[in-house]
Amino acid sequence: MRLGLLLLLACLELGEGGGNGEWSRKSCQPLTVRQRYQEEVCINTDILLSLRNTSQTTVTTCTAASKLRIASTMEGHMKEDILSKNQSPEAETCSPVVIDNVRLNGPALNINATESFLHQAMDIIMEDAVKKATDVREKVCEWRSPEQLKELLDLELKDEGESETEILQRCRDAIKYSVKTTHPRFFNQLYAGMEPYSMVASFITEALKPSLYTYEVAPVFTLMEQAVLKKMIEVIGWEEGGDGIFNSGGSLSNMYAVNLARYHHSPDIKELGLSATQRLVLFTSQECHYSISKAAAFLGIGTKNVYVVPSDKRGKMIPSALEELIKKAKTEGAAPFMVNATAGTTVLGAFDPIEEIADICEKYNLWLHVDACWGGAALMSKKHRHLLKGIHRANSVAWNPHKMLMACLQCCAFMVRDKTGLLQRCYSAQASYLFQQDKFYDVSYDTGDKSIQCSRKPDAFKFWLMWKALGAKEMEKRVDRALAMAKYLTQEIEKREGFRLLMEPEYTNVCFWYIPPSLRNLPDSPEFWKKLHEVAPVVKERMMKKGSMMVGYQPHGDKANFFRMIIISPQVSKRDMDFLLDEIHNLGKDL
Ligand SMILES: *Cc1c(COP(=O)(O)O)cnc(C)c1O
Ligand SMILES: *[C@@H]1O[C@H](CO)[C@@H](O)[C@H](O)[C@H]1NC(C)=O
Ligand SMILES: *[C@@H]1O[C@H](CO)[C@@H](O)[C@H](O)[C@H]1NC(C)=O
Ligand SMILES: *[C@@H]1O[C@H](CO)[C@@H](O)[C@H](O)[C@H]1NC(C)=O
Repeated sequence: MRLGLLLLLACLELGEGGGNGEWSRKSCQPLTVRQRYQEEVCINTDILLSLRNTSQTTVTTCTAASKLRIASTMEGHMKEDILSKNQSPEAETCSPVVIDNVRLNGPALNINATESFLHQAMDIIMEDAVKKATDVREKVCEWRSPEQLKELLDLELKDEGESETEILQRCRDAIKYSVKTTHPRFFNQLYAGMEPYSMVASFITEALKPSLYTYEVAPVFTLMEQAVLKKMIEVIGWEEGGDGIFNSGGSLSNMYAVNLARYHHSPDIKELGLSATQRLVLFTSQECHYSISKAAAFLGIGTKNVYVVPSDKRGKMIPSALEELIKKAKTEGAAPFMVNATAGTTVLGAFDPIEEIADICEKYNLWLHVDACWGGAALMSKKHRHLLKGIHRANSVAWNPHKMLMACLQCCAFMVRDKTGLLQRCYSAQASYLFQQDKFYDVSYDTGDKSIQCSRKPDAFKFWLMWKALGAKEMEKRVDRALAMAKYLTQEIEKREGFRLLMEPEYTNVCFWYIPPSLRNLPDSPEFWKKLHEVAPVVKERMMKKGSMMVGYQPHGDKANFFRMIIISPQVSKRDMDFLLDEIHNLGKDL
């Protein structure tokens, strides 16, 4: 009887998904008899359960209740027969437990098959998403219209799953029709290039799936986040230290800043809401990234309470104009609470004069936030950090290592100079199921309550690993190289016929017009600008359909459409700069 039971159990395990052989073998021997039974008996759970007495092979239909009864009898035998023989505790699960027709013993996922799938997928990732994607001879993009792409991707989700082969093909297709932002000729965004260390960190965190709220569930990444923030805070120059948190985006960091500044101004808002205060006004420059108006709308400040400070023609906030607006708000009876300065604007790459703005903030007791999402990287360079002179006087800073420093998306730090736990007080909700105060370790390491998110990716790890690998020195070299490359491109643009700079760049945003031969002899008239305005969109369309490169264009204020070239990656060389200008000319010379 006991032997029969064992046979049956062994066979049960084998019957499941056909693939958990290893586990079964360990706990439900003997193998040879099991093999004998596998075909005849292991067909489905109902049959198996009716075969409790192996000498009698009649198949009966079991009711749920009898299944349970049988199962529990078997469990009893298991304890005697198997556990007592010093088997692993897993063996206990060998007794078939079936509830609502679902067999609950053993894993329902074959980890060996999963592993093999991952290996194959990894090969595809290496080949197509890494090697091919960064190969300059390959296309940057495979442009398809949404209709064509819908057709190609067969997007509909169905009841039945597909084979592994089909799924791997879907992976290849997803890569094929995606834009290769790591390609040396992708200049379209404020991020670019392949950074292997942060990429590996991403893979690791995807595999481990940690969530950064408590030390208990993410011990390693909690400490790494702290280490990275400490270092970034040092680079900013807050000698007393500070506090911070990584967010899923610079836009979110900016929202944190607005909300934190408001909380600092009127702490009652947290409990009483907006009625606890008078009309609040914040100040930002004309060049402002759209995330500020989103923040104002989202936080109940109101977009009309964002006072836009004029910038000079280089895109820098004019401090005297800021002071005028602060006075104006005060005479209106409103309460100014914060100034947003930008270090590296999105389009022109302009740096606001932080030192002068900080003077005004001190005078009027306003929170100074510096949006250094894009320009923060210049802090890594002794040669260029002067661009952010005065940043140590800011109350908060947003800085995205995923932009100029090339960490994988997303990697965005929000940092505050405050060391009194302001961030914690502003955001904490003290969820008792997560942040128990009576845990067995130092709960100050449970940093998640500073965040408005609950689950949060350990983005800091990406920056930590690359910093370990490259050191601050290599990052400094890269920043210096990118700025030198921008200088080279600027000189080429000045030399070449048909190209015209908007202005001498401060950072690696190189903004310029391409003037096709047909427009070169026209005078600087509205007619000329109207025609020029139409050039960049057509060149862009052509480059994307060809797949040769990607570079952005936009109008700005009263300026007609121009190209905004962005230089980031050390993969990029002088040859790519020359290519950019040659290619724009080739694509647009007939216009
Ligand atoms: C990119 C950028 C942002 C937004 O950052 P995301 O991570 O894209 O949300 C905000 N401000 C400036 C100046 C930026 O360049
Ligand atoms: C699962 O993988 C391990 C190690 O690769 C191997 O020893 C074992 O035989 C495999 N089991 C099955 C059922 O394929
Ligand atoms: C098992 O089967 C044998 C042979 O048919 C029978 O004698 C015995 O009573 C059965 N035992 C149980 C528990 O059903
Ligand atoms: C500050 O200005 C920058 C760029 O001008 C913008 O990206 C950001 O959204 C603004 N943030 C806040 C908090 O105003």
